[in-house]
Amino acid sequence: MKFSDPHSYTDSEQGKIAHIQFWIDVDFSAKVLKIKATYRLEKPVSGSFFLDTRDLNITRVYKDDQEIPWEIDQHDSIVGDRLHLKDLDGLSEFTIEMTTSPGASALQWVTPKQTAGGEHPFLYSQCQSIHARSIFPCQDSPSVRFTYEATVEVQRPLVAVMAAEHIETEHLEKTSQYRYRMPQPIPSYLFGIAVGNLAFEELGPRTGVYSEPEIIESAVWEFAENEQTLIEAEKLFGPYLWDRYDVLILPPSFPYGGMENPRLTFLTPSCILGDRSRANLVSHELAHAWTGNLVTNATWEDFWLNEGWTTYAESRITEVIEGDEYSQLYASIRRNGMLKVMERFGMDSDKTCLKYSQRGIDPDEVFSVIPYEKGASFILQLEKSVGREVFDAFIKKYIATFSFQSLTTEGFISFLERELPEAIKNVDIDEWLYAPGYPESAPALSSSLFDEVKARIDAYESGTLPDSHQIADWVPDQIRLFLLMLPERIPVEDCRQLESIFNLKDSHNYFMINRFYQIAVQSGYQDVLPGIERMVGSDGRMVTLAMIFRTMVNEEWTRDEARPMFERHRDKHHPTTVAVIEGILNKAGL
Ligand code: BES
Ligand code: ZN
Repeated sequence: MKFSDPHSYTDSEQGKIAHIQFWIDVDFSAKVLKIKATYRLEKPVSGSFFLDTRDLNITRVYKDDQEIPWEIDQHDSIVGDRLHLKDLDGLSEFTIEMTTSPGASALQWVTPKQTAGGEHPFLYSQCQSIHARSIFPCQDSPSVRFTYEATVEVQRPLVAVMAAEHIETEHLEKTSQYRYRMPQPIPSYLFGIAVGNLAFEELGPRTGVYSEPEIIESAVWEFAENEQTLIEAEKLFGPYLWDRYDVLILPPSFPYGGMENPRLTFLTPSCILGDRSRANLVSHELAHAWTGNLVTNATWEDFWLNEGWTTYAESRITEVIEGDEYSQLYASIRRNGMLKVMERFGMDSDKTCLKYSQRGIDPDEVFSVIPYEKGASFILQLEKSVGREVFDAFIKKYIATFSFQSLTTEGFISFLERELPEAIKNVDIDEWLYAPGYPESAPALSSSLFDEVKARIDAYESGTLPDSHQIADWVPDQIRLFLLMLPERIPVEDCRQLESIFNLKDSHNYFMINRFYQIAVQSGYQDVLPGIERMVGSDGRMVTLAMIFRTMVNEEWTRDEARPMFERHRDKHHPTTVAVIEGILNKAGL
């Protein structure tokens, strides 16, 4: 059967892009990128060649001085617009000139007011899953890889960074030209660019951090351990093949916690908490350098191969760096969170399966933690069935075998059959991959940090609130787990008490207090509204915002507050986030 990706017009039988040479002119006043891109194909192509695009203003397609006939001949609200290059005559190179649209779904044009410094604008991309096509025409399927070079021209004193290797910078009178190249072939969703008033600090020989100068010091402190994390990760998964590992701190509207753009992880500023408590975010994005960026899911239906494997890999790193007790505590947070999401979807919903057909479904719409945690539990189950030593050798072989390749779920199973037949015998593969819900046989977790939380939950359920000294040495993730394990609705007075016991009132740890806000809304604790509004105005992460708006529209007392609150902050947020929240409000008839 011919391979096809439900989220792309790519027909790889026509040919494949091998390399792109970009000239990118960043125009903040018009909120567009003006791009000239020369494409080199793997081999000469004759006849038709399809590329994915969305909202692009294409002005010319040519080779030397020869125009190439083209047409946008298919539209789809999810997949976008098909660019059909016609009558190619054994061509292996062509150039496209285009301008992005101000509403390009991959780009966020941040106004100076919404940055830490307040003076310069900021631009960043977020291409996963199917947004690269709104920047440049491409075979926007994770099954196609290409290398690229780029020259990015920006107004001085702005700095352009890319998820690629920096070659040189040339300062002209009014502008600077930054040259980058990506010598390792990447799928289009790992294309990354950002422009802003950026500073850089070294963390170690291969690691560093980019951010606005106003926050660089706190970022350097928060991520001081990145070099060590990289060293530990290499021991587990094999050599790091991307040369450098830098992180870039984005403005608050960044819709995710982190994004594993190669060489340059993009991070939300809300992870800078002054206590290094979100180190797992870096472990996760770094782990993608192997699971995801080297071995890539072939389509977004195989997303669990990226995220499940990476969540497993993340927890292996956490175990080495922070110990087994903490790593298992964190795993139980993930599992608890996932079970809540499964209950919301319904335990028999397709969306609780690791693999199901996503034709006609927007990957942003169905994004959830299920492929992460159910996927990681499946990999852990495989590990347990053969023992760690055997499994560790398998991990290295898996990565070495499929480096710079894409893999389907079925391809992974064939590899498993070949390399770990015992795991196939002992683990119900079909149940894990294709059945809804969470298998009973999932490996158990155990941690004394978890037990302490559970003891307080048991006490709460029999009527005793924790007191301050019982929880004095709790780490933030224990509080988070406690909140996750609380009943959905509790007395208002308990909300007030817990808020004070755990010191939640002035907390900026949105990873933790978002769950408190959820319980508070469900319980009718009215004093939290200003705190919720502060979160809605300052944390751009889609999961956080979607959760709080979903909760608010479901409760009588906050229902009418949801739309006005969203409108007050809508301009601050990313187009994808806005679309998701709009969806929630519209569905609720608001
Ligand atoms: N690759 C994801 C982010 C993503 C997924 C962006 C799907 C667009 C579509 C990234 O690696 C990720 O999973 N980030 C998590 C953090 C992690 C610690 C679970 C996030 O942003 O919450
Ligand atoms: Zn991830």
